[in-house]
Amino acid sequence: MGTRVRVGVIGAGGIARGAHLPGYAKIPEEATVVAISDIDEPRAQQVADEFGIARVYADFNEMLAQEELDLVSVCTPPFMHCAASVAALNAGVNVICEKPMAMNAAEGEAMIAAAQQNDKMLTIGFQSRYGERAQFLKHLIEQGELGDIYFARVLALRRRGIPWWGVFVEKDKNGGGPLIDIGVHTLDLTLWLMGHPTPTAVSGAVFTKLAKRPGLYSRRVPIDQSRYTVEDFATAQIRFDTGAVINLETSWALNIENEVNAYICGTEGGATLRPLKILKEVPNAGLLDCTPAHEEGREHNHAGQFAQVVRNVKEGTPPLVKAEEALTVQRIVDAIYESGETGQMVAIE
Ligand SMILES: NC(=O)c1ccc[n+]([C@@H]2O[C@H](COP(=O)([O-])OP(=O)(O)OC[C@H]3O[C@@H](n4cnc5c(N)ncnc54)[C@H](O)[C@@H]3O)[C@@H](O)[C@H]2O)c1
Repeated sequence: MGTRVRVGVIGAGGIARGAHLPGYAKIPEEATVVAISDIDEPRAQQVADEFGIARVYADFNEMLAQEELDLVSVCTPPFMHCAASVAALNAGVNVICEKPMAMNAAEGEAMIAAAQQNDKMLTIGFQSRYGERAQFLKHLIEQGELGDIYFARVLALRRRGIPWWGVFVEKDKNGGGPLIDIGVHTLDLTLWLMGHPTPTAVSGAVFTKLAKRPGLYSRRVPIDQSRYTVEDFATAQIRFDTGAVINLETSWALNIENEVNAYICGTEGGATLRPLKILKEVPNAGLLDCTPAHEEGREHNHAGQFAQVVRNVKEGTPPLVKAEEALTVQRIVDAIYESGETGQMVAIE
């Protein structure tokens, strides 16, 4: 490989323009985006002009055939994550695919199989793990500050925050609603902080109570509710082989305040992610705020993610977000949707 990682981007929408392209632009000595593809070719051309990208393709297969790439950013909606990632991996190119990994775990497994067969890296865009706050908390947990973690609350709650642009509200293209869209971020982060215990069973409940109400106000834009085929709220209890439990709540519309947070409780202490706080038992004093001095830092760190992933490609080192870990998130998501539908607890093999 030359000195610069040659990047191709598939999908020229919000996340490509807002995170991937600015992320690569911050490390011009390390990476250069040489091509971009979108079925909406004029959009791809506009983005190419904005970011100085040399070549534009309407068909990502043509881009993969024509270009010499080291890394592909998959920035399409979820229904294309598997097809685009597998095509890139089969073309011998490393992949960072946006979250959620895929529409379901079966697709995630196909993506991992393609990565293994071609001996290429596959990672998923869970950029919260690269955030300074999460990194600091991970360090504290690894030092044993929380002891044996046996309970966590995972919240990704928007009171009125339905993404009406693109295809986020269409089940057959997005795979689901807030659970698969925003719940996966905080769930992935918490599983990582907990050291990736193995999930064994899920009891979930899934609702669409508010999103289709006439006159629903969400982010001040006119909304086409006829397209809305996903949940607006999901909650679940997830059990692990260690005996630990996570309670998860995630919404795009719920009569509650906004909160994106993780509360992690262990035998030696408890942690809150936003703002970062550590509670510990102090002998003869009680449970006190023992948060070490720290910079609050960024929660999301897209720039850090791309710098790290490019380094991984150059050095052939494993990514921070392993595809197998993202697959576990996907398995939990599948089980929550199944449990919501059947009303039964669902075992995870
Ligand atoms: N990591 C994060 O925090 C974060 C934030 C926002 C979005 N995302 C994820 O990024 C992905 C894209 O979201 P977005 O907000 O950019 O959506 P978007 O609708 O703005 O853009 C998606 C783009 O993909 C294009 N596309 C669709 N099919 C294609 C194909 N076959 N080949 C090439 N291009 C194709 C569309 O034309 C569109 O331009 C989703 O999976 C979303 O969940 C992640």
